[in-house]
Amino acid sequence: MEEKLLSIKNNAISLILETKSVKELEEIKIQFLGRNGEITKLLKELPKISKEERPKIGSIANGLKNIIEEAISTRETTLKKTKVITSRSFDVTEPGIRPALGHLHPVTQAIREITSIFTQIGFTRVRYPEIEWDWYAFTALNFPQNHPARDDWETFFIKQQPDEKKGTVLLTPHTSSGQIREMEKGELPIKMLNIAKTYRRQSDVSHTPMFHQFEGLVVGENIAISDLKGTLNYFVKSYFGENRISRIRPYHFQFTEPSFEIDISCGVCLGKGCRLCKEGWLELGGAGMVHPNVLKACHIDPEKYTGFAFGWGVERVLMMKDGIKIDDLRILYSNDLDFLKQF
Ligand code: DAH
Repeated sequence: MEEKLLSIKNNAISLILETKSVKELEEIKIQFLGRNGEITKLLKELPKISKEERPKIGSIANGLKNIIEEAISTRETTLKKTKVITSRSFDVTEPGIRPALGHLHPVTQAIREITSIFTQIGFTRVRYPEIEWDWYAFTALNFPQNHPARDDWETFFIKQQPDEKKGTVLLTPHTSSGQIREMEKGELPIKMLNIAKTYRRQSDVSHTPMFHQFEGLVVGENIAISDLKGTLNYFVKSYFGENRISRIRPYHFQFTEPSFEIDISCGVCLGKGCRLCKEGWLELGGAGMVHPNVLKACHIDPEKYTGFAFGWGVERVLMMKDGIKIDDLRILYSNDLDFLKQF
């Protein structure tokens, strides 16, 4: 009997030392100390042993049970410690995981690029309110009271008591409102670049209800159409590339006289005419010489000062840039990472 106990002990200890996981150790524990385990069975057989031998065998068996229990708990501590060490150690030669790096939204990138182009020739970047009074967005810009842009279906109006002098409250539909805010400061000459969010009731492949415009305004003595033309060409070449040219076409805006639409030569066919542009030109946006009524509304003497202005869509110039193919403008604001990551 004593021999049997000794061989159980040796067997148990070597099995315990060989275990590689807590789970394996758990199985060994059941094998020896579980309800039908080898030690438990032995203890159950004690009554069958002669009275003389019983106390001695009993104490050996109990001692054995303690030894095995202790061996198991020591092994358990070792296994747990080893596990921690393994998970902490790492292979220094293994290629690392690059942390995900974000970048600026393509529209923010475009705004920064446009700002940098204009500040290089002396323009100052300004920002004016998105929530605006009628006076700044329409009246001071020479819009008649019945102009369609004042319709509910064109502009977002805010339910608020109109101001006695400045009229209704609205979300500015264009950055031209910034022209009035700049001129009413009474500091001449002016060379401002107002880039801001603008709002209109429209949503389709080439329109979003919120979009951005950049508005240039230059007011001073002897400012002529040739200054406008030179500024335009400089911007077109800096933003779109040396091989692109601009042209001005007669148009109508309330706040400029004369008014123009600016076109740039198509980047695909370089002005020859193709499927995208039809006749070699793409529409960039509006511009013109500041209307005398607008200068007067801002207390500037139109006999002494003249100016030019232009206002174009940030998203629009971004879409017209070489190599950028966005066939639905709304994707810019859909938070689609697969799309945004390409910029
Ligand atoms: N505000 C006009 C629009 O949103 C664009 C515009 C046209 C701005 C002519 C100008 C300008 O400064 O001179 O359609």
